[in-house]
Amino acid sequence: MFSKFFVSFLALAAVVSAVPSKRASCSKGRSASNEKVGSMELSALTFHDAIGFSPALARQGKFGGGGADGSIMAFAQIETNFKASIGMDEIVEEQRPFALKHKVSFGDFIQFAGAVAVSNCAGGPRLQFLAGRSNHSQVSPPDLVPLPEDPVDKIFARMGDAGFSPNELVDLLASHSVAAQDKVDPGVHGSPFDSTPSVFDAQFYVETLLNGTLFPGNGSHVGEAKSPIPGEFRLASDDLIARDPRTACEWQSFVTNQKLMVQRFTRAMAKMSTLGNNVHELVDCSEVIPVPSKAASNVAHFPDGKTIKDIEQSCKGTPFPVLKTQAGPTSVPVV
Ligand code: HEM
Ligand SMILES: *[C@@H]1O[C@H](CO)[C@@H](O)[C@H](O)[C@H]1NC(C)=O
Ligand SMILES: *[C@@H]1O[C@H](CO)[C@@H](O)[C@H](O)[C@H]1NC(C)=O
Ligand SMILES: *[C@@H]1O[C@H](CO)[C@@H](O)[C@H](O)[C@H]1NC(C)=O
Repeated sequence: MFSKFFVSFLALAAVVSAVPSKRASCSKGRSASNEKVGSMELSALTFHDAIGFSPALARQGKFGGGGADGSIMAFAQIETNFKASIGMDEIVEEQRPFALKHKVSFGDFIQFAGAVAVSNCAGGPRLQFLAGRSNHSQVSPPDLVPLPEDPVDKIFARMGDAGFSPNELVDLLASHSVAAQDKVDPGVHGSPFDSTPSVFDAQFYVETLLNGTLFPGNGSHVGEAKSPIPGEFRLASDDLIARDPRTACEWQSFVTNQKLMVQRFTRAMAKMSTLGNNVHELVDCSEVIPVPSKAASNVAHFPDGKTIKDIEQSCKGTPFPVLKTQAGPTSVPVV
């Protein structure tokens, strides 16, 4: 049992690391002009598959979803038409042949590929990877994946239903430190959420707290908030969660503590990646996940031109940490 999983995933680790990608923030992949799929979409896919899990629906006698069960790959025509997952068909279709060829369950494959994608980010975590998820799944109920335009209470309630506290959502959002968007404003394809999108660092937690002053594209879009730097994109949900009294202190706590950020993310991802599964029936195959390279610097800074005066202090009682302003580019390029 162990060796079967181990050998399959070891072979896959090399393949997934080399998956082509055009604008993956932290990809080791080859680049070529016709490549479309970003490897960080693999990381987003872990969430969109797993969060299809609702004990609240189950209590009403309805099917609540199977969690991290691969249903987004098994029923891609349906689930990638759910509003929050529109456009994910591309990455799912691209990845499915690898899962089929290596005869691993779709649920395992998605969590595995996400862990490998994150390991390609400097400074990133080496996530736990457990194998052995069933390949049987049913279509997830709709509307379980949060939208960036959702009110913060709705987002917290949805995450709470799936078993995550508001602070654990803050932990999971470390993934946005290496994220970019295409769909909220297609006019600024590949606009990143912070100025260091290829490093899994705390810049995201700093820059989301800067006073938003501009839209990187041609104006406001649904799910978008103003960002502090030309080219940078801010999701409305990240803007609200950073400032909400329930989560602002967890958010701020990562600003000068990249180690804590990685620890908390790793812990929350271990929970998310096994939603709906019995962890005691899974096999630890974490060794197949590559060891990420260290980040050159893990010290967060204010981007050029910004100071503590631009911070919207949101954690009551704990002053924002002292950071230096780093001279350099005053706009963020697409990734
Ligand atoms: C409140 C919860 C969340 C909301 C509302 C949200 C929303 C979004 C949106 C709208 C995008 C941009 C998609 C696009 O336009 O291309 C995005 C990107 C991304 N999200 Fe989230 N997200 C949430 C939580 C998470 C979690 C928990 C993870 C993973 C653990 C995650 C991982 C990512 C990644 C990796 C990307 C970048 C995708 C890429 O570069 O192609 N997100 N998110
Ligand atoms: C998993 O299920 C899909 C159908 O949803 C099937 O095509 C595939 O062969 C199955 N994979 C394994 C390893 O059983
Ligand atoms: C902004 O650009 C998008 C295409 O990128 C277009 O669909 C939209 O109409 C534009 N909006 C404005 C206000 O110009
Ligand atoms: C934020 O920026 C706006 C301009 O977009 C300005 O009017 C406002 O005073 C600023 N707020 C803070 C707290 O600096």
